Amino acid sequence: MRTKALDQLCAWLEHTPMSQTIQTVDWIVPAVQTIHILAIAAVMASVLMINLRLVGLVGRDQQLNAFSGRFLPVIWWALPVLLVTGVIMIVGEPVRSLENPVFQLKMALVLSAIAITLGYQAPLKKNPVFWHVSGAHRIAAVVLALVSFMVWVSIVLAGRWIAYF
Ligand code: HEM
Repeated sequence: MRTKALDQLCAWLEHTPMSQTIQTVDWIVPAVQTIHILAIAAVMASVLMINLRLVGLVGRDQQLNAFSGRFLPVIWWALPVLLVTGVIMIVGEPVRSLENPVFQLKMALVLSAIAITLGYQAPLKKNPVFWHVSGAHRIAAVVLALVSFMVWVSIVLAGRWIAYF
């Protein structure tokens, strides 16, 4: 999606002192990309562990909320790091991301992934074994794990694809 307002925003951003600094200081972009990638590794490892537990492939000796209680904070702490590092990359090269449909898709997927993670976490606060209380809940848990994993992997693919679209 490209609109006149978005064009104007990108043109303004590109000429701000902060953008000029990001564009001209050689180490900023690689350093920020490295932090972005480390945070992706933390998020994806945690997502994988929670989803494997949801389908019952790991950690079956631990209750669902105790197990995910170790990994959910990693997701919630890494997301602001991804946001801040992502914003720095956007400010450095606004047109490349803000006007790129793949970037826009990635942001929609990030919002979906946040909604899915909250949807997984919220019922566990009321019932620590919510996702495993009945057969129907277990089926819902497997569906949730598959959808969640697909959405997070799509975010990673979209993130990399931005550079080629
Ligand atoms: C939370 C808000 C986020 C923002 C604003 C953001 C923004 C960005 C930007 C601007 C880039 C640079 C793209 C380019 O110019 O090539 C990027 C790269 C990337 N992002 Fe994000 N991102 C966010 C979250 C995430 C998340 C949650 C993931 C995956 C779990 C992710 C995965 C990636 C990947 C794989 C790359 C490519 C890295 C590389 O090859 O250097 N991002 N992101």
